[in-house]
Amino acid sequence: MNHTERREFRWPALLTADGRGIAYGGDYNPDQWPEHVWDDDIRLMRQAGVNTVALAIFSWSKIQPTEDTWDFDWLDRIIAKLGDAGIAVDLASATASAPMWLYEKHPEVLPKDRYGHVINPGSRQSWRPTSPVFREYALELCRRLAERYGGNPTVTAWHMGNEYGWNNRSDYSDDALHAFRAWCERRYGTIARLNEAWGTAFWSQHVNSFDEVLLPYHMGGDAMVNPAQQLDFERFGNDMLLDFYKAERDAIEAVCPDKPFTTNFMVSTDQCCMDYAQWAGEVDFVSNDHYFHEGESHLDELVCSDALMDALSLNHPWYVMEHSTSAVQWKPLNVRKRHGELLRDSLAHVAMGADAINFFQWRQSASGAEAFHSAMVPHAGEDSRVFRRVCDLGAALRTLSDAGVQGSRLVRSDTAILFDAQSEWATRSRTLPSGDLNHWHDVRDWYRAFLDAGVRADVVPLAYDWSAYRTVVLPTVLMLSDDDVRRLAGFAAAGGRVVVGYATGLVDETFRVGLGGYPGAGDGLLRDLLGVRSEEVNIVGAADGEPDAVRLSNGVVSRLWQNDVTAVADDATVVATYDGCEAAAWELGGVPAIVRHPYGKGEASYVGCDLDRHDIAVLLDDGSLGVAVAALPDDADGSRIIHTTRIADDGSCRFDFYMNRGHEPVAMPWPAGERVLAFGCDDDADANTGHDGPAMCRMGRDAMLVTKRNLGR
Ligand code: GLA
Ligand code: GLA
Repeated sequence: MNHTERREFRWPALLTADGRGIAYGGDYNPDQWPEHVWDDDIRLMRQAGVNTVALAIFSWSKIQPTEDTWDFDWLDRIIAKLGDAGIAVDLASATASAPMWLYEKHPEVLPKDRYGHVINPGSRQSWRPTSPVFREYALELCRRLAERYGGNPTVTAWHMGNEYGWNNRSDYSDDALHAFRAWCERRYGTIARLNEAWGTAFWSQHVNSFDEVLLPYHMGGDAMVNPAQQLDFERFGNDMLLDFYKAERDAIEAVCPDKPFTTNFMVSTDQCCMDYAQWAGEVDFVSNDHYFHEGESHLDELVCSDALMDALSLNHPWYVMEHSTSAVQWKPLNVRKRHGELLRDSLAHVAMGADAINFFQWRQSASGAEAFHSAMVPHAGEDSRVFRRVCDLGAALRTLSDAGVQGSRLVRSDTAILFDAQSEWATRSRTLPSGDLNHWHDVRDWYRAFLDAGVRADVVPLAYDWSAYRTVVLPTVLMLSDDDVRRLAGFAAAGGRVVVGYATGLVDETFRVGLGGYPGAGDGLLRDLLGVRSEEVNIVGAADGEPDAVRLSNGVVSRLWQNDVTAVADDATVVATYDGCEAAAWELGGVPAIVRHPYGKGEASYVGCDLDRHDIAVLLDDGSLGVAVAALPDDADGSRIIHTTRIADDGSCRFDFYMNRGHEPVAMPWPAGERVLAFGCDDDADANTGHDGPAMCRMGRDAMLVTKRNLGR
């Protein structure tokens, strides 16, 4: 689906008088607890200001304890209690985790791994997305839920599945094989086109018909998979889950057309599992599960992930379906949140356009695999720091709601960093010059470098329309189609600025290398746009006794990857070359590393080597890339505050959010505007207060300051 043909934006109502308000709550699993706990849950939810829960996500075996028995009574009772308390329900399709009886009766729904081993049940998502048997059971459950709760006024949205693809994205079963053959036939039409696209002349991989097409199984030892086949398998996995989601959604929608649908995406830290540029068109409102990355990149990473969410939702508000009040339990070491982070992180999501703040989960489990995962009501109970913070957050969200934040739109930047999930899958191929390529991490490095330079960029899917931006940046977008390159060239010709990173545009959408010199995508058009031609790739870091970094003439240092640029266009400007003894050791002395090239009314900048975020920031700051970085006067240092703005849909007012990126307190002019709320900021800490100059405030480590200003429209 093209992103322009998407479902209409629909946002779930709350049970407030006008249905409005920032949604606040979490995954609620009452089936893990005896019923006498439920009244206590509701009392505490009201105390905390919770107005929404996501219900029954993993409740299939409780709803359908055997094939022939259905038990909705408990669900009726808890939905009624929640409704009476004014708490809206985002009701799950409950299909993420199937009951054991289903696996016992139909072991043929279990996926297989690449070795052909059966994936056993007992965790969750132990089912084949392509299984017709499983689909029948799942759709039956969807229909029954829709019939029973479609008209229930407490249920205001449908939460489909849960994190589709988390555990069953790659299935090598026979169902998958047959579905893959059909998928390939739909994609390529003829077997000749598939042979061409996969380059099957290599290693005698030619296939005579779609019946000979295989999944990328384990082939013994270290044997390498055809990268084009692997990439199609990734696309196929994405498409099968999206089909499955649509089938579930359609089954419910046939009975209950008037409530919005969503499913929780996984955009955070190391995950960007599915091609959400496609998925976003199939939901009525976009939701995300975000888990924090501990350490100094914590806030930057959160804001970067959220920037992609804002783009996926086409600047409509979006939903934080899950995040954590404190530590998770699934990392080797699980760091808890600092005292202020629960509130700051939640409000940071609001600052980035979220109108719903929810956690995994409401009450911390006493048993099971997630007992040590934090929750809104911790093991310690209501008399706990975490629960008091949860109540503080409820009050803060209420204040923002009352001030009119809900429905306001995030003000966009004039720079877009382009992200492409399919390039991200492609960079994981083991067949590339470096096994360390990571498109998502390079997006984050560029994002953080822009923050260091005082600019908040946007993160936009390559497939979407970014033509209104002034600058687009392509970090490690390995794969570009002819059409992508034409769009980039057209954008530059019309006056845009294109910044292209070292591993961008090496292959097309079939993983075929563009010939004639790197970067060869677009049949030479990308080289023409950039005004460079590179003959070889230089990889450092693996050779004993050789330098593992190469210095450039402007002082920045490249690691990992350098393109050996052997020709630049006459009208190009070489901004920096490789220089010094490391460059000499690698035969790169004097080779152009950073090049700018005018193109039509615009310009392209080429960064032909891997740079870390600090060095990218240097290039942005000193104007090497020609990108305008008007440092915001938010703080004395120019770059330690993240500042975002949301503007009311009718233009009547704006909300400004200020956050401290670092660990040290930052002095910042107290922003003009009617103060709405502030946390961890100290407005009389600076001697300037009371003088003619601007009053200063001190932003503590986890501080968040929000102001509202009427725009008089
Ligand atoms: C072996 C094989 C060749 C080729 C090279 C690559 O020598 O025989 O076909 O794969 O490795 O290094
Ligand atoms: C995911 C799942 C939740 C829970 C959390 C734990 O986001 O959707 O059910 O397992 O992870 O962090």
